Amino acid sequence: MKKSLFIIISLFSVFFACKTIEEKSSPMDTTSYNEPFRPQFHFSPEANWMNDPNGMVYLDGEYHLFYQYYPDSTVWGPMHWGHAVSTDLVHWEHLPIAIYPDKNGWIFSGSAVIDHDNTSGLGSSQNPAMIAIFTYHEPIGEKEGRNDFQTQGIAYSLDKGRSWTVYEENPVLKNPGIKDFRDPKVMWHEDEAGNGRWIMSLAVLDKIDFYSSPNLLEWTFESDFNPEWAAYGGVWECPDLFPLTAADGTKKWILFVSINPGGPQGGSATQYFVGNFDGKTFTTESSETLWLDYGADNYAGVTWSNVPESDGRTLFIGWMSNWQYGQIVPTHPWRSAMTIPRKLELIKINDGYLVASRPVKEIEKLRKESKTVSGSSFELENELVELELSPNQSDFKIHFSNDKGETLIIEKSGQELKIDRTQSGKIDFSPEFPAVHKAPLHGIEVGTVRLFIDRSSIEVFINDGELVMTDLIFPNEFYSKVELNGFTESNSVHYLKGIW
Ligand code: FRU
Repeated sequence: MKKSLFIIISLFSVFFACKTIEEKSSPMDTTSYNEPFRPQFHFSPEANWMNDPNGMVYLDGEYHLFYQYYPDSTVWGPMHWGHAVSTDLVHWEHLPIAIYPDKNGWIFSGSAVIDHDNTSGLGSSQNPAMIAIFTYHEPIGEKEGRNDFQTQGIAYSLDKGRSWTVYEENPVLKNPGIKDFRDPKVMWHEDEAGNGRWIMSLAVLDKIDFYSSPNLLEWTFESDFNPEWAAYGGVWECPDLFPLTAADGTKKWILFVSINPGGPQGGSATQYFVGNFDGKTFTTESSETLWLDYGADNYAGVTWSNVPESDGRTLFIGWMSNWQYGQIVPTHPWRSAMTIPRKLELIKINDGYLVASRPVKEIEKLRKESKTVSGSSFELENELVELELSPNQSDFKIHFSNDKGETLIIEKSGQELKIDRTQSGKIDFSPEFPAVHKAPLHGIEVGTVRLFIDRSSIEVFINDGELVMTDLIFPNEFYSKVELNGFTESNSVHYLKGIW
């Protein structure tokens, strides 16, 4: 265990050393949202660097999306919380930066809640505060070699996230002397008698710690979680704890833990555990590592809080990139996009429970023209597409190509699904990028294959999300030709509208 801890610490130092290389770019400019590789139906910042989605919360008809943002460069640096809102999870309006670095440090990842009962006293019951709980990363302490430079702080807004006040007595949770102590995800939890309190999940090096609080201002340690057999290839980050109920009425608690590096395709990925939370301790019934998305490019994703009961969905978005090459992907003047938002569901496959991630139904609003295509090869007329394909053989292949000879191949053989992006377009910016990504099917019988292709990404949903693979791609021209092997004669193509 000591040796693996040493490896984790070394890898983590390299990770942060890499993250501090700064490359200055022009200040925020108004973009056309039409640059090469600019996602047309995924969220991306107008300019400069973005990583994790943060503080997603729903309030009064708006889905808020905050995100790790460095407004002075296209690579990682002193973090702020960028901000956007959407009324439909598909179209986004950019808002000014919400939270700036302050004397306590840079603003790392975290969550946001609505304090309906005014437990914090920072709002009122007529106008409950939106409260952001985030990690302060204090760079001077880090440089000095201290180990207490990450703490948790809060800020609040009384005007629907438009303006923010940093809590005067920050930090609300001090560091006990552990370098990696971050990414608080907070939820309101009630026991069977209806007694409620706030629960924070926090990533602490290679475990998740749970804290409780009556008011978001004072926190008490409850328990930690780090099963022997979990994935420990890198540091644990960005946890999320939430309940899901399966179609048969079974309720389980799910714990997400992002890990970097050590993902199934190398670099960053999100593992999850199925189990129970009793208000104090999380226990898992999983016995093998499960990954939310088997592609290379879905990291640090968490769920929205305060989604109305009348909606009832558990909604998710992830950072569509990977720390292996996120800072050197060939895009300008911005870097990174988010996945399409997904609805999480608990499904039973054979004797075990898995988390399915399905594209939110709102995405269908983007369909501008739908066609039935027949035969095993056809041309695409437009670069923004959703395909709905029905395999009629147990093994199949989907081969995309363009006139430049670039190809993207999706293939199922036996119990394995693969995406081959080795010849997919621009690949030489990183040795880690051109690769064949493989996913185990966990006994899932493939009924449908649904694909979304934007200018620089592909998202593959097997059975509408029972198995998901999200990959970045940088084709120099869109893939206009599709060849199918192992599918029925008739399939659907939807051409999509852009959102900007
Ligand atoms: C995950 C992460 C978080 C951290 C943030 C810093 O990608 O490393 O653990 O809070 O990014 O930007």
